[in-house]
Amino acid sequence: MTSASLELAQTLDAKDDLAPIRALFECPDDTIYMDANSVGPMPKAVRGKAKGLLDDWVHLRRRGWSQRQWLEMPSLLGDCIAPLIGAAPGTVVMSDSTTLNQFKAVTHALALRPDRKVVLTQNGNFPTDVHVLQGIAKVSGGRVTIRFVDSEDEAIAALVAGVAVAALSHVDYRSGERWDMAKVTAAAHRHGALAVWDLSHSAGAVPVDVGLADADLAIGCGYKYLCTGPGGPAYIYLKPGLGDDVWPTLAGWMGHADVFAFARDFAPHPGVKKFLTGTPLVGADELASAILDVWPRVEPAKLWAKHRSLTDFLIAALRQECGSLGVTVNSPDDHARRGGNVSFSSPGAGSVVEALIDAGVISSFRKPDAIRFGVSPLVIRHVDCWTAVQRLRRILAERIWQLPKYEKVSV
Ligand SMILES: Cc1ncc(COP(=O)(O)O)c(C=O)c1O
Repeated sequence: MTSASLELAQTLDAKDDLAPIRALFECPDDTIYMDANSVGPMPKAVRGKAKGLLDDWVHLRRRGWSQRQWLEMPSLLGDCIAPLIGAAPGTVVMSDSTTLNQFKAVTHALALRPDRKVVLTQNGNFPTDVHVLQGIAKVSGGRVTIRFVDSEDEAIAALVAGVAVAALSHVDYRSGERWDMAKVTAAAHRHGALAVWDLSHSAGAVPVDVGLADADLAIGCGYKYLCTGPGGPAYIYLKPGLGDDVWPTLAGWMGHADVFAFARDFAPHPGVKKFLTGTPLVGADELASAILDVWPRVEPAKLWAKHRSLTDFLIAALRQECGSLGVTVNSPDDHARRGGNVSFSSPGAGSVVEALIDAGVISSFRKPDAIRFGVSPLVIRHVDCWTAVQRLRRILAERIWQLPKYEKVSV
């Protein structure tokens, strides 16, 4: 790339096919929203959905189930995001939290491999993903054990007979490094193991294709790059035909093959709908339904190309403008290895993130020294990347982050 500049940013933005989508989102003029944390960009329509729900709640009464499609919403939302992860219609549902879906996915994989006991995961995996595995191991009374690895090569080497499931994050939440899903899944399958992927930091930003990679199950957060709004539901994907007759561990009435038969005995719905548990979370689903008017307008290939352009530009700008001030980029140079956020290390990282908030740049901090700029191609422009880097540069150069008011670091 020629050197990063405001002019280059403006030229790149002028060619942006996705620019009109930005108007569908809350983008306050004084804020550059790059939070890679739990709260992704929010569609403007979420406000209307929330108000509509509260205003209509009493009047809708039972009719919400038919008029607002409350029962169908987990599948409607799942189908809406399916193209972003390379999944066929009917293979994804949105419901519950990522934590719960990790439990459902991993226990399902274990049920499909009853004679094996090892679950493979990353040392650096997000804590909740690991805690779920530790909970499963603890209650299994010794049947299930966890094997930790640090790198993709180590994972491939560790995928030997006896491993039941590789439960991995597609992208490292701290460094932003993306794993090769197809390669690791193929290694798992060679030895009879199944692969469960957490796509929280990739889906909605970078290319994901669970079909091409032959992934067995996948899960992820809705509220990050998929823009389901505050507290939005998570999702779960199940490869078509994988263990249709196998019960989900969390068997609930919404996962029954015939919900309104009110049968005493459980019978699993074929496919991914068996993972539905109880009454849909109507409030969260209503807010999330704003995405039904967003994602169908977005061609995934254009989304991914824009993410590549934005993050190439951002990384170049960070090095050029802030390299001499102690900033080093953690995210890989190769876009095929990059996740949704750009991660970099900085002196005083936690305090820098606080000072950035006052400067109108919302980012996130991960101990010990990583700052993450979440790059959602639906709202972030190249000029935003340039402006964010200029504000960072000032905070570092003028040592603004050392002011006492930035000493206390929030999560
Ligand atoms: C990779 C990953 N998995 C899971 C979660 C959180 O899951 P939950 O929504 O259940 O809290 C996060 C949160 O940031 C995450 O980064």
